[in-house]
Amino acid sequence: MESTRNKLIQLLSKEEDTFISGQVISDKLNLSRNAIWKHMKELEKDGYKIEAIRNKGYRIIEIPKKVSQNTVQWGLKTKWLGKTLIHRESTTSTQHIAHQLASENAPHGTVVMADEQTAGKGRLSRSWHSAKDKGIWLSIVLRPTIGPNLAPQLTLLTATVLADVMQNKLHVTPKIKWPNDIILSNKKVAGILTEMQAEQDQIQYIVIGIGINVNQEQEELPDDIQARATSLKIETNKDWDLHVLIQDILLTFEETYSNYLENGFQTAIKQKWESYGYRIGETTKIKTIKDEQEIKIMGIADDGALLASYQDGTIKKVYSGEIDWFSNGSK
Ligand code: BTN
Repeated sequence: MESTRNKLIQLLSKEEDTFISGQVISDKLNLSRNAIWKHMKELEKDGYKIEAIRNKGYRIIEIPKKVSQNTVQWGLKTKWLGKTLIHRESTTSTQHIAHQLASENAPHGTVVMADEQTAGKGRLSRSWHSAKDKGIWLSIVLRPTIGPNLAPQLTLLTATVLADVMQNKLHVTPKIKWPNDIILSNKKVAGILTEMQAEQDQIQYIVIGIGINVNQEQEELPDDIQARATSLKIETNKDWDLHVLIQDILLTFEETYSNYLENGFQTAIKQKWESYGYRIGETTKIKTIKDEQEIKIMGIADDGALLASYQDGTIKKVYSGEIDWFSNGSK
């Protein structure tokens, strides 16, 4: 059951800058004036700054700098994304919780976030290091009305969302390494894991997992990925408020997703993805389960595949594989 405290925060959050009178709070939440005052004191202990003015009422003027359902929903401008929002201090993987909720009919746009994951999952059965309070570890449940064959487009869409937020809000220059790694200064700062539950021609739900290294120092990154990983803090020399970044990501995601549904992949995503594309036009190696070959990266196809030009002159679509970090220099 939703606590009175959460209901109080949500009531005060509805009209961000406006005072809500004690009478309205009392009527809506069935609380005495004395109980309201006590709740306000408790909120202040939690880091909320509340202004109380006689004859006007109460308003929140500052929220704590931590991730919680309340801090992310306070001022969140989305219409459907994150309206159902679950936050855990620690969990195995937000993907697990999101799958569980989705199989129990969680609505389109449900978001699961955690401060820490003890068994974070990466692509290709790798693990994903998710240290407490150091990054954004979240999963989004979607119920798109597209065919399962188009699901990879949503991974590419998500990559453009992360790149847009980093470029527009943090003023860094991100690149997207196919299919889904976000790169800053030639190192990976974020990854996306898309998992789907589908039957025949219909998607039941998709879970999009987003992992972003935010406030780690270089030495806090695990040894085995130090050389190839970075964080937003390392790149910008600044700590970032996780709840504010999450809000930016959710709003940009919602806008991009509706642009995609309205205008299609070609117009809404493909061009933008290619403008961020890492090593497009360069010759590099690609490793697939079959082999490793030298290719020139041409761009992406409408179904999300990588367009690769092979040494025998053929251009083929690649659906699964990994691009080498190094280019051989020829263009
Ligand atoms: C990758 O690049 O390999 C994908 C990494 C995806 C990590 C995120 S963190 C939130 C969500 N929960 C997980 O266990 N994995 C994804």
